[in-house]
Amino acid sequence: MSNGIEETLVLVKPDGVARNLTGEILRRIEAKGYSLVDLRMVQADRELLAKHYAEHEGKPFYEPLIEFMQSGPVVALRVAGNRVIEGFRVLAGTTDPTTAAPGSIRGDFGRDWGLKVQQNLVHGSDSRESAERELALWFA
Ligand code: PPS
Repeated sequence: MSNGIEETLVLVKPDGVARNLTGEILRRIEAKGYSLVDLRMVQADRELLAKHYAEHEGKPFYEPLIEFMQSGPVVALRVAGNRVIEGFRVLAGTTDPTTAAPGSIRGDFGRDWGLKVQQNLVHGSDSRESAERELALWFA
């Protein structure tokens, strides 16, 4: 268990924005006690997304994911708190919304829509290194 204030990048993905869940997601982050440091709405282009998802290039879900992430605006959040990187990923729930635990964002609001891409509402950085890299991309 590590300690100390961290910052993480949270993205409300296009499905979360389109379904008007941005406020609910922000509410859960703030109710947990994390602090919102910065926020912007972005229509992401392929160049930004290719950098963001560079480690997944070549995986079967890569192209559909890049397409999906350009399908509408996303809301980028800079969020701070003790162990917020791990904490937000628990709030989000596991990648597959069908099996994400009820009580989590994906578990409460996500499901499989029968599309080729998982529409799982949110992204959260998975490590301090990723958070630093991703925050620099989205809040350049
Ligand atoms: S991996 O292969 O274990 O690293 O994958 P994982 O960490 O679960 O997911 C990496 C990111 O890809 C997204 N993902 C998908 N998107 C769409 N469709 C499918 N099938 C799919 N599988 C994984 C997943 O949500 C992660 O993106 P972010 O933006 O971090 O949520």
